[in-house]
Amino acid sequence: MQIFSPFPRCLLSWLVTVAACIALPAQAQFTDEVPFITSPDNVTLEMLDIAGVKRGDHVIDLGSGDGRIVILAARRFGATGLGVEIDPALVEKSRASARSAGVADKVEFLVQDLFKTDLAPASVVTLYLLPEFNLQLRPSILALKPGTRIVSHDWDMGDWKPDRTTVLPVPDKAVGREKSSKVHLWTVPARVEGLWCAAGLLRGATLRLTQKYQNFAGTLAWRNRSRELAGAISGAELRTPAGRHGELLLQASGEVLTIASAQGDLALAQNETFRRAKGDTCDA
Ligand SMILES: C[S@@+](CC[C@H](N)C(=O)[O-])C[C@H]1O[C@@H](n2cnc3c(N)ncnc32)[C@H](O)[C@@H]1O
Repeated sequence: MQIFSPFPRCLLSWLVTVAACIALPAQAQFTDEVPFITSPDNVTLEMLDIAGVKRGDHVIDLGSGDGRIVILAARRFGATGLGVEIDPALVEKSRASARSAGVADKVEFLVQDLFKTDLAPASVVTLYLLPEFNLQLRPSILALKPGTRIVSHDWDMGDWKPDRTTVLPVPDKAVGREKSSKVHLWTVPARVEGLWCAAGLLRGATLRLTQKYQNFAGTLAWRNRSRELAGAISGAELRTPAGRHGELLLQASGEVLTIASAQGDLALAQNETFRRAKGDTCDA
């Protein structure tokens, strides 16, 4: 859509930037691209709550600001954590706050570019960045261990829809017109697209799956019969709704899919497994 304006485009974008800077309160300072704006206390707590953070979790906050998310994860939920922040002064502040909160042995803060951070050790990743940062991070997030929880304050992940979203009141919100914040949760789904070949009781059966983020569809073919499947992936679990054939629950673990529970004509196939095909058929 073309919008008519009496101003040249560059002047317009400069005016928007200046207006945004004037509108930001003293606590909001710009780095190169993402400003330092803290998540309010109620939002910080919800980010950890919605992800079900607990002892044993490792929380990585990308763009950790003053360290509040990681420090609360350790202090209140007993998790360990890493905060990655480009601004050295904020990292110093975070380390001091961690010492005051008595969690300096559980959390670490690094001056580091978030895009150069190894996310593999995380069981929970938290973000309060910008939409385009989330989209840039999406491929590396989708490559993480199935079951890793991702929480983003306000911004989504494009067409990867969140599993859950909550909305909280933030009466003195520093940015935007809405005086509320959204907290989105995603769970990294197992990567199951492709052909799977049955062993054991179901030998000869094939399972061909397609996948779009946390949704899958496919065909289970066995002894001249076939059944269409579709359902949702939550971490390592693939579940079809209880339809005509009853619910089917598959558990993904690396290159193996196990029937964790089944009803109807597959009820006896519990614990039977499929292996990912090496090529384009199950003949090999
Ligand atoms: C909106 S603040 C969020 C702070 C904190 N996570 C919270 O929710 O309260 C975003 C932070 O990301 C930091 N940041 C921006 N670009 C970064 C980058 N490339 N690598 C690491 N940190 C970055 C900014 O300095 C800022 O402190």
